[in-house]
Amino acid sequence: MKQPRVAAMEEGKEPVSATKNSLSRALPLRILVICSLFLVLGVGLSIISMYSVRFSMIPQIAAKSPSTVLPWCEEATNNTLENFIRPPSNLMHNMNDTELLWRASFVPQIKEYPFKRVPKITFMFLTKGPLPLAPLWDRFFKGHEGLYSIYVHALPSYTGEYPPSPVFYRRQIPSQIVEWGKMSMCEAERRLLANALLDISNERFILLSESCIPLYNFSTIYHYISRSKHSFMSSFDEPGRYGQGRYNHRMQPEVTLSQWRKGSQWFEVNRKLAIDIIKDTTYYPKFKKFCRSACYVDEHYFPTMLSIQSPHLLANRTLTWTDWSRGGAHPATFGKADITESFFKRFFEGQSCLYNGQPSTICYLFARKFAPSALDPLLGLAYKVFGY
Ligand SMILES: *[C@@H]1O[C@H](CO)[C@@H](O)[C@H](O)[C@H]1NC(C)=O
Ligand SMILES: *[C@@H]1O[C@H](CO)[C@@H](O)[C@H](O)[C@H]1NC(C)=O
Ligand SMILES: *[C@@H]1O[C@H](CO)[C@@H](O)[C@H](O)[C@H]1NC(C)=O
Ligand SMILES: *[C@@H]1O[C@H](CO)[C@@H](O)[C@H](O)[C@H]1NC(C)=O
Repeated sequence: MKQPRVAAMEEGKEPVSATKNSLSRALPLRILVICSLFLVLGVGLSIISMYSVRFSMIPQIAAKSPSTVLPWCEEATNNTLENFIRPPSNLMHNMNDTELLWRASFVPQIKEYPFKRVPKITFMFLTKGPLPLAPLWDRFFKGHEGLYSIYVHALPSYTGEYPPSPVFYRRQIPSQIVEWGKMSMCEAERRLLANALLDISNERFILLSESCIPLYNFSTIYHYISRSKHSFMSSFDEPGRYGQGRYNHRMQPEVTLSQWRKGSQWFEVNRKLAIDIIKDTTYYPKFKKFCRSACYVDEHYFPTMLSIQSPHLLANRTLTWTDWSRGGAHPATFGKADITESFFKRFFEGQSCLYNGQPSTICYLFARKFAPSALDPLLGLAYKVFGY
C-alpha cells in the first residue's frame, strides 16, 4: 500500500485517496497534505532550510499518526545498530559550534565494538577555497575506498563546488571565517575534528592544506600512521622570542612557562586526542585571551595542551615537511620549475627520526607548499617518485 503512494508523490501527482486500512480517512490525508507541502518546500529551499522544516514538522506528524506511516516523510526509521553507526551521508548540518562539539564528544564506555570496525584515516583539508592539487589526491586515494574519509573546511565566502571527483565532492563541512595566526584557525581545526568524529570509524586525523602533497602511496601512509603508538603532533620547548617569548604569565596556573610548547600547525592525532582537543574548556579560554597577534596561537595551543595532558602519546614531530630555510613568517612555495626527480631526493635520503622508539628513515609523509602550477609536473612524476 505504501509503495505506490510514495511513487505518486515523487512524481508530483495527486495521491490516491482510497485507502483501505483501518485508519480514518482524514488522518492520512492530512499527513499527505503536510508531506506534499514539505516536498514542495523542499524543492525550492536549500538543504539546510530543508532540514529545519523536517525537524519542525516531524513532531506534529508523529503526535497525530501511528508510527507506521512515518516512512513516507522520513526515510530510514529503522532503529538498527547499522543505522546508528552509519556516518552522516550529508556533511552539512545546522548545529552551531557549541552543539557540534558537544555532540562530537560522545565516547562509548565499552571498549569492544559489537561489529566489525575498519579504522579509517581522516584527511582534513583546511583551505581558503579551491583545491588545485585535487587530481593528485584523486590518484593517491584511488582503490582505497573504505580506509579513508575526507573533510574540507573552506572559507564561507567560497561558493564553488568541488568537481565530481569521487574524493572531494560534497565533503565540505559548515565553515566560518579563518584568520591566519588567530584563534579562529584553531576553532576551524576543532570544527574539522568534531565533524570527523561523528563518523565512528575515523581513528586517525590528519590536518592538511590545499598546498600539501602525499610523498608515499596510500598503503604505506595508512600503515605508517595506523601502526604508530604515538600521534604526530610536533611539540618542543624553544627558548627565545619566537618560543618562550610568546608565553604570557597570566596563563598560570593552567599553563606555566616550563609547560609552554611550540609546534607545527600540521598535526596528526588519534581519536582519543581528537576528543581531548574538541572537549577542552580549560586551556581554550586561556589561549584565546592571552595568546594573541604575534603569539600565533595555532603554533602553541594544541602542542602545549597535549604535552601537559598526554605527553606519552606524542611523537613530538610532524609528518608534514615544510621548508622554512628561506626565513620570514611564510615558508617556501614550490612551483612548476622546482618539480624534478632530484628535488624530491631530500625527502627520501638522509632522513632520520624515531618511529615507535626505533630509528626510521621515513619521517615525513606529506610536504608543502606546492603552487597550482606544480600539478602537471607532479602528476608526471608521482608514479615513479611517490609510487601512486
Ligand atoms: C529495516 O530493517 C530490516 C531488517 O534489517 C530490513 O529488512 C528493512 O528493509 C529495513 N527497512 C527500512 C525502511 O530500511
Ligand atoms: C549555539 O546555540 C545554543 C542554543 O541556542 C546557544 O546556547 C549557544 O551559545 C550557541 N553557540 C554559539 C557558538 O553560537
Ligand atoms: C606502496 O609502496 C610500497 C613501498 O614502496 C610498496 O611495497 C607497495 O607495493 C606499494 N603499494 C601499492 C598498492 O602500490
Ligand atoms: C614527547 O615529549 C614528551 C615531553 O613533552 C615526552 O614525555 C615524550 O616521551 C616524548 N615522546 C617521545 C616519543 O619521545
